[in-house]
Amino acid sequence: MKHNLHQEFNKLYNKEADNAYFSPGRVNLIGEHIDYNGGLVMPCAITFGTYLLTSPNEDGVFRFSSLNFTEKHEIPLQQHYEKEGNGWFNFPLGVIAHFLKDGHQLKGLDMLYYGDIPISSGLSSSASIEVVTAYALNDIFNGGYSKLDLVKLSKSVENNFIGVNSGIMDQFAVTFGEKNKALMLNCDTLDYQAVDSNLGDYILAIINTNKPRKLAESKYNERVQECKEALTALQKELNINHLCDIDADTFKKYEHLITNPVVLKRAKHVIEENDRVKLAAAALANNDLAEFGKLMYASHDSLRDLYEVSGIELDAVAEYSKTNPNVAGARMTGAGFGGCAIALVKGDAFDDYSKGVTEYYTNKIGYAPSVYSSLIGNGVGLLNVAVN
Ligand code: GLA
Repeated sequence: MKHNLHQEFNKLYNKEADNAYFSPGRVNLIGEHIDYNGGLVMPCAITFGTYLLTSPNEDGVFRFSSLNFTEKHEIPLQQHYEKEGNGWFNFPLGVIAHFLKDGHQLKGLDMLYYGDIPISSGLSSSASIEVVTAYALNDIFNGGYSKLDLVKLSKSVENNFIGVNSGIMDQFAVTFGEKNKALMLNCDTLDYQAVDSNLGDYILAIINTNKPRKLAESKYNERVQECKEALTALQKELNINHLCDIDADTFKKYEHLITNPVVLKRAKHVIEENDRVKLAAAALANNDLAEFGKLMYASHDSLRDLYEVSGIELDAVAEYSKTNPNVAGARMTGAGFGGCAIALVKGDAFDDYSKGVTEYYTNKIGYAPSVYSSLIGNGVGLLNVAVN
């Protein structure tokens, strides 16, 4: 790691940190814009994440500092908080507000954050900071929450304090992630299985388009709304609670109920993508990475054409990947509108892929992407346990 966090904490607060925690970011292998439609997703935790060092204080004050931002924040302990502007500290502040709302007795706390997840890259830096804070408060103040409670609490912070109507996938993945496993998560029932992410000769590449995700939040909420509209239209004749309660064949019989052509495209993506996750799970179980890769490309195309959340930058990564024989598949990951793509690349051809995609992307877009080879890591925990 770039920093000695304990030393930094000491410099900042003039005392030792008592506790240290880590929560990862995540990539989603397949199943995009599915979680808020009650379907199946396949995320995994990555080894990039958010570190948090803490020490309680007797001043009745919450102090937020981060090595990633110059902005610091200090706020007295009170019973109620609102989001304040767009500062990064709103994520932990929202978690604190939730604990207080639930009736927990908190004390002042000095906090130092550091994250190595590229911000606004679609790798869930926000879920990561929410979950690491929730985990830490639960530990320090004996909150008595289960891990699943912490997932739900963090999602509620994202929805109600931050104002993004996201589903549960990100908070779930960064909490329950397991080393070298992908999570097959049913976002309706929250049942999940950690399945071996046995990629054989392939490794997972993460390609950050380095395009800041401007307007992403309002566009995201717009998609959530469009899916609600599609569901309401289908409910005229179908007894369903979520779009993902039906498969593509059933959808064909009822799609005439959706009269708005844009909403129709959104629903088609969601329902077909959910079917693709089932096929992808079978392909992974059979070690059929060629098939898995094809499904990744199909997912990307659908997010580009039907859900319209891609963009020339993410498309450029998928386009290049299709021309490289050492790539089984590639797709955008996360909400879209910029951010990151992932690719399944033959391990011994990673450097060549990295060079090729950088050259293609830079020629087309005018600036370079960042390319990483990613490891699948553990979910949230005490720092020494989670990072190994
Ligand atoms: C963001 C949201 C998730 C999920 C993805 C798209 O990451 O936070 O809940 O909807 O977008 O799959």
